[in-house]
Amino acid sequence: MLIAQLSDTHVSTPEGPEDVVLHTSEHLARAVAHLNRLQARPDLVVITGDLVDRGEVGEYERLRELLAPLRMPVYLLPGNHDHRDNLRRVFADHSYLPRAGFLQYTVDDGPVRLVALDTHIPGEPGGRLCGERLAWLDARLAEQPQRPTLVAMHHPPFASGLALMDAFGLDGSDGLAAVLRRHAQVERVVCGHLHRPIVRRFAGTVACTCPSTRHQLALDLPPAHRLALAMEPPACMLHLWLGDAGGLVTHVSLIHDKYPPLVVHDGQGWVRNPQVPANFHPA
Ligand SMILES: [Fe+2]
Repeated sequence: MLIAQLSDTHVSTPEGPEDVVLHTSEHLARAVAHLNRLQARPDLVVITGDLVDRGEVGEYERLRELLAPLRMPVYLLPGNHDHRDNLRRVFADHSYLPRAGFLQYTVDDGPVRLVALDTHIPGEPGGRLCGERLAWLDARLAEQPQRPTLVAMHHPPFASGLALMDAFGLDGSDGLAAVLRRHAQVERVVCGHLHRPIVRRFAGTVACTCPSTRHQLALDLPPAHRLALAMEPPACMLHLWLGDAGGLVTHVSLIHDKYPPLVVHDGQGWVRNPQVPANFHPA
C-alpha cells in the first residue's frame, strides 16, 4: 500500500497574493500531475491542512477543480488557514467528512488504517487537541489494535527549532502522547504546518512533517529568530507499507521535471540514460 501526502497547498483565488506572488494553484496542479504519473500509483492521497489560504468558499471551489484530475481517492483535513464549514460545504460529497463538529475520520480501505485529526482553532495560527478530540482518537485506536495505523493532522506535536513557528504549535501534545502510548499500532504521525520535512521520535512512534507543494520555510535554526519563505523545491511524502516484516517506510518525493535519471544500471553496468540529451547538465 502506498499513501501519498500533500500538505499546505494554500490555494487562493486568482486575485489573491498566494496566487499572484507564489502561484500556489499552479504548483498544486503540478503536484497532482506528479502523483498521477508515478509508476507506483498511490492508493490514496491525504492533504494535511492549509488546503486554502483564507478559508473562503471560492478558494475551496478552486481547490476542488485542481484536485479533480487525481486518479486516486483524496482525503482532506483542516489546518489553521482553513474554515471547517466552508470546506464541508464545497466538499459535501466527500462522505468521510462529518457533517458537524470536528473534521475527524478514519479510512479503512487498505492494510494501513488512516486516522485523521482536526487541530483547527478558528482564527488562530496554533492548533489544539482538546479532550473531546483525544477521546475520539483513543476510541478509534482501541477499535483495531493490531492494524498498522497512520495518524494524520496539521499541527505537529513537537517543537522544531524553527522558533517563530514553534510559537504557533499544538496545545494538547502531552495528551496526544498519552493516548499514543496506549496504542502501539501507530506507525507514524504525519503532519504539515512547518513547510519542511522534519522527523522526531514521539510517544513511542515516529512523527514527521511534510513539505509544502509550493513555498517552504527557510531553515533558520537557533540562534536565528526569524520566519522566512524559501522557494526550495516543492515536495510531497510517500508512505510505503512493506508488510509486517518491512513496516512503513517514508520517502520525500520532489515535485519537479528537472532531474531525470542521468545514469541507469541495466543489470550489467551503469549506462547513460538515452532519453536524456547529451548536453544535459543538472543545475
Ligand atoms: Fe501552511
